[in-house]
Amino acid sequence: MHMHILIAGGSGFLGSYLIKSLVQAQHSITLLSRHPERVDAPTGVKVVYWDGDNVQLPPQDKPIDAVINLCGLSIARYWSKSAKQAIRDSRIKPSQALVKWLCQLEKKPELMLQISGIDYYDMPSEQCSETDKNGDHFLAQLSKDWEATVQPLKSTSMRVIIARLAPVLAASHPPLQPLLLATKCCAGAIIGDGKQYFSWIHHSDFTNIIGNMLMHSSYQGIYNLCAPNPVPYSTLMQALAKACNRPLWLRVPAWSLTNTLGEMATLVVDSRKVFPKRLLDAKTSFQFPTIEAAMDNLCQSK
Ligand SMILES: NC(=O)c1ccc[n+]([C@@H]2O[C@H](COP(=O)([O-])OP(=O)(O)OC[C@H]3O[C@@H](n4cnc5c(N)ncnc54)[C@H](OP(=O)(O)O)[C@@H]3O)[C@@H](O)[C@H]2O)c1
Repeated sequence: MHMHILIAGGSGFLGSYLIKSLVQAQHSITLLSRHPERVDAPTGVKVVYWDGDNVQLPPQDKPIDAVINLCGLSIARYWSKSAKQAIRDSRIKPSQALVKWLCQLEKKPELMLQISGIDYYDMPSEQCSETDKNGDHFLAQLSKDWEATVQPLKSTSMRVIIARLAPVLAASHPPLQPLLLATKCCAGAIIGDGKQYFSWIHHSDFTNIIGNMLMHSSYQGIYNLCAPNPVPYSTLMQALAKACNRPLWLRVPAWSLTNTLGEMATLVVDSRKVFPKRLLDAKTSFQFPTIEAAMDNLCQSK
């Protein structure tokens, strides 16, 4: 079945991979962007302006079957008070606007897929799955509020999916890109004692799994969207060094990152050991289940 999919925030990193794969699968895409003139979308993709606060679509040739919300300012910045507010607003406000619009529609799309983050959890060293508890740090509380914005849709006929996404690995985008460049210059480093867990997903698995979620109505509710094998940071860096055929000998003390980056350093210093239990229960397959396979593939593709 070929669907018509509305993607908000699809002009960025994840949107570019997702739209390419959805276009290949012959779905029709309408993309909402605050800057349509800057969007380099594949042929056939309709780009419509919005301000991030209100949805007003021109009349559509085909009804919209699914909505995907990828909006959100990058969190890779110093978390000053104003940056935290901007990070929060850029997620909550577009999501609220989409939900308000959907609630008013007489004929609703079948699916709303809302991106969230694995930072929803307490930064655990114990492995956690979808039912584990919400943390009380900044990103955990933001994820909780972000997810709550889709609550009004649960009383409608729509299928609602929340994808708690791990860092997506691609050679040309953070978080992998700077690690790859450093490793290729023999400057790859283990941060802290390297025992903190890193949860991740290869960009191909991200796009394939979202494609499956669109097509199969059995997917519903909250999913950890991450590979089934989170690894200690030292294993990540060793796999990267091996795939690039470079040595790994540097160490960066965690305190030096905390001193320079402030609270944002928690992204690399703290453990995230998240497990995609519901995806595995649904027999979802991963093309790159291990970090070694992912690194071999991504380092060759650069
Ligand atoms: N990349 C990852 O590894 C990863 C992991 C976990 C979760 N996520 C989440 O997935 C989403 C997409 O990530 P990404 O890496 O593709 O980010 P990205 O490259 O920064 O793209 C995000 C998009 O959000 C839109 N946006 C930003 N601020 C907005 C605002 N105030 N109002 C409305 N739209 C706004 C932008 O679209 P326009 O400028 O065209 O309007 C932009 O293209 C984000 O919410 C992110 O937190 C990403």
